[in-house]
Amino acid sequence: MSSSDSPLTILNTLIFPLKFIFLSLTYLPRALLLTFPSSLSTLQSAWFSLFWSHVGPLVRESASPSVIPLLSGLITRGSLKPTPVHPAISGTVLELGPGSGQWTSTLSRFSSNITKILGVEPNTGIHPLLRSQIKKNNLEDKYTIVPCGVEDLASSGKVEKESVDSIMTVLCLCSIPEPQKNIKELYTYLKPGGRWYVYEHVKQGPEAPRWLAIYQSVLNLIWPHFIGGCEMCRDTPKWLKEAGPWGDIDLSRPEKSVWYETMPNVIGVLTK
Ligand SMILES: C[S@@+](CC[C@H](N)C(=O)[O-])C[C@H]1O[C@@H](n2cnc3c(N)ncnc32)[C@H](O)[C@@H]1O
Ligand SMILES: *[C@@H]1O[C@H](CO)[C@@H](O)[C@H](O)[C@H]1NC(C)=O
Repeated sequence: MSSSDSPLTILNTLIFPLKFIFLSLTYLPRALLLTFPSSLSTLQSAWFSLFWSHVGPLVRESASPSVIPLLSGLITRGSLKPTPVHPAISGTVLELGPGSGQWTSTLSRFSSNITKILGVEPNTGIHPLLRSQIKKNNLEDKYTIVPCGVEDLASSGKVEKESVDSIMTVLCLCSIPEPQKNIKELYTYLKPGGRWYVYEHVKQGPEAPRWLAIYQSVLNLIWPHFIGGCEMCRDTPKWLKEAGPWGDIDLSRPEKSVWYETMPNVIGVLTK
């Protein structure tokens, strides 16, 4: 047993979702004050905006060592390579659920190869933060916010079929409605040869202890209500693989995964 697998580390990982729910709850009073007496959905949007504006940077800090190499094309079979295995993110980019714009600074690293970015973000309450990140990172001439959910992308007419070089989904396929259907829909926007860069948390795999899978399902009874509709138990890798015919599928659990994770990740690039 390595020191990183100490009982305390395991316990901390197991209770992490509960701590996260508690943290989210602390933003509820302010959201209520700001939105009362508006509708429940306005409250939920404001609550998530407040929560994510504080938590987003922490999440970025822990996810950057995975997401930056991913977008650079340096990740294959869940592990980091010294030279690119896939092309870096480029061309017309569709960023799903950019939220408060955690990854705009990362995208700006690749901006010489990026023609335009479409950020599909339905929570208008978070748009001011997203806009300020776009400005801060000098992406104003390239970045367009599409103010709808992925489910309304087709009717919005903002994105043409087979027009996108790179789709980027970072911790957002957990939060979209009808994921199977909408992942299939997203696939249709990719050009042939286009790439889908994925970093998502997913449901426990068959290799996980049974009690851990049950624990995740129990947590998921309450989790989505506190974390902006995020679902813990989605079989996103399966739905991605089944979205349509792929030229190449390079999607795995990260190499450094531990068995006791409550929110296991998948990472990789699928090429149409
Ligand atoms: C957990 S946050 C992640 C935000 C960002 N990708 C990041 O890594 O910080 C999930 C994001 O998905 C967005 N979202 C929720 N429903 C969506 C939908 N139907 N279509 C597109 N995005 C959606 C949320 O508003 C939120 O910004
Ligand atoms: C731009 O694309 C070229 C050709 O694929 C690649 O060599 C280069 O590293 C890319 N630059 C960035 C910043 O992604």
